[in-house]
Amino acid sequence: MTRRSAIAGIIAVALAGVTGAVHAQTDALTPTGRWSVDARGSAPVPPMGWNSWNAFNSDIDEEKLMASANALVRTGLAAKGYRYVDIDDGWWLKRRMPDGRLIIRTDSFPSAITADGATSFRPLTDRLHAMGFKAGIYSDIGRNSCGQAYTSNFAHQPVGTRDEREVGLYGHVRQDIGLFMGEWGFDLIKVDGCGIRAMSPDNPLVKSGAYRVLGPLVDYDTLPRTDIAAVRGLYESVATALGETRPRHDYVLSICLWGAADVRSWSRFVGQMSRTSEDLSPTWERMLHNFDSAVRRELYAHPGSWNDPDMLYVGTGPFAADHPVEARSHMALWAMLDAPLMIGFDMRKATPALVDILGNPAIIALDQDPAGNQAVLAYDDDTVQILVKTLADGDKAVAVFNRTAAPADAVLTAEQIKLRADADITLTDLWTGEVSHFTGEDALHLAPHQTMILRIKGAREHAAGLYLSEQPGRVNPAIDGVVEPEADPLIHRGTLTWRSTRGDGEHPHYGGWGGARADATPYGQTLKVGGVVFHSGIGVLANSRLEVRNAGFRQFSARVGIDDSARDRHAPVQFLVYGDGRLLAQTSPLPFGGAPTTIAADIAGVRIIELVARGEAGTRFPDPVTWGAAVLDR
Ligand code: GLA
Repeated sequence: MTRRSAIAGIIAVALAGVTGAVHAQTDALTPTGRWSVDARGSAPVPPMGWNSWNAFNSDIDEEKLMASANALVRTGLAAKGYRYVDIDDGWWLKRRMPDGRLIIRTDSFPSAITADGATSFRPLTDRLHAMGFKAGIYSDIGRNSCGQAYTSNFAHQPVGTRDEREVGLYGHVRQDIGLFMGEWGFDLIKVDGCGIRAMSPDNPLVKSGAYRVLGPLVDYDTLPRTDIAAVRGLYESVATALGETRPRHDYVLSICLWGAADVRSWSRFVGQMSRTSEDLSPTWERMLHNFDSAVRRELYAHPGSWNDPDMLYVGTGPFAADHPVEARSHMALWAMLDAPLMIGFDMRKATPALVDILGNPAIIALDQDPAGNQAVLAYDDDTVQILVKTLADGDKAVAVFNRTAAPADAVLTAEQIKLRADADITLTDLWTGEVSHFTGEDALHLAPHQTMILRIKGAREHAAGLYLSEQPGRVNPAIDGVVEPEADPLIHRGTLTWRSTRGDGEHPHYGGWGGARADATPYGQTLKVGGVVFHSGIGVLANSRLEVRNAGFRQFSARVGIDDSARDRHAPVQFLVYGDGRLLAQTSPLPFGGAPTTIAADIAGVRIIELVARGEAGTRFPDPVTWGAAVLDR
């Protein structure tokens, strides 16, 4: 860029700031030149480990925990990357008064006994650290825990007066984070949200005086009744306290809001992993539910902050080792999602067959691939889904997933993998090691519930570079254009096991509908502008700003326009490309219905590219726009 055009760019940016001041939403489109995904914690790849909840519920103690830790070492799983050992609900006795220090349940954790009665987890975390593990602990963002709110018949509930039973972080964030992550030496904290969801004035437990009223800030069933900003603010305060306690930022903040509070829209700025749904149950239908809650969020997972469809149930019920097809599917799908891999099984009972599934190095390598690209849906229906994940070395991982209990036929095409249809494609089946080849397309036969998982080499369809939709780990929809959060309807609604069919059924819950997508529009349609179909591209709403991390590419190009699926259609959209905050290229405002317009920019030496689609300011439901065939070339 010449000096003159650089100055023009700065003026354009400054002007955008001025007009934007009128509409807060437009203002957010001003480029920042920054990558805004949280870099305060440490999760360059999805955390892996073991957590007590799925195995033991709240009935956890030191013996069970250490037995599982020892089993992770003995079976070789620790060496394969399962390095976090996390205590979930059930560890706390009470909050000591008047100083508010949390006291550990020492009859479950005898090593926590101290002479002065203050109790300490330090001996336990020291032991885990000496074994090469990292240690995790559990709390709640409200005053009370999930066990207290929903399952007071569970083992190990806090005891004492009402105030002593307020074991959650609310009002104690700095004190508790200092205790957990400083004095006690934990490395990960899972922060649940029941205390801001359940303690409403009409809760009988509140009415009876057992617990204090708080909010509720989260209305799980009605997104517009949730105070999203307040919830985010509370979790922000935890992230701030973590930074103070751990100035080296060697911690993981695990946000457990079960997809509520539109957490999809903000978790990547706050924590390292974030639950996308309600708790997983060991049933096939709920596995589908949790999988679906993350599978269309490929642009919301990045190195440093991951989608968390919940801890693994591999080993239990339909995912037990004697159901190897289902157990492998669950494992392979979580790896394709770049999900944290947290074993939820009593490892004292692990068989070699189960260890083989959890420990398959080729599957683990997909999850832990340093590029951090969550898989993208290349084919999607209610029977078969094909997911493609681009790996750091350029290989592709492909999962062909039969969701149903009947056998299914599928055809995998070179185009779906973005490989050339006229060149040899080599497949390695990651469960069997079997190698095969095809050209063009391959007919596959899937057993009921089977996920075929393949590592693939071939000639790239676009040899000069990489489509943006092949590198979602480098594309962050910093502003995705969603103004009014809407629940995502595309999620399988399996019966919730603990509720059974009481009430009137499952409803769409999780904010995320209209979020940015790779190779699809925000509402799940094929990308299409002026009748031109793009099988590669980014779909996002107007009034959006995408941040793209450049990895040494020299040229950006795309073919852009308002997507043909738009409903409002009346306002034009202008597309702008920035490099490290400077305007590099722009279109004129493009009306609906025209042919796609080419936009290109020289991005040599640029670190952060920003792609802005500026539509009518102040609109509540912006139209979808398409960055078709968006590509970075060498
Ligand atoms: C919530 C969480 C679970 C678990 C329990 C503990 O339900 O989502 O993962 O931590 O609380 O009570």
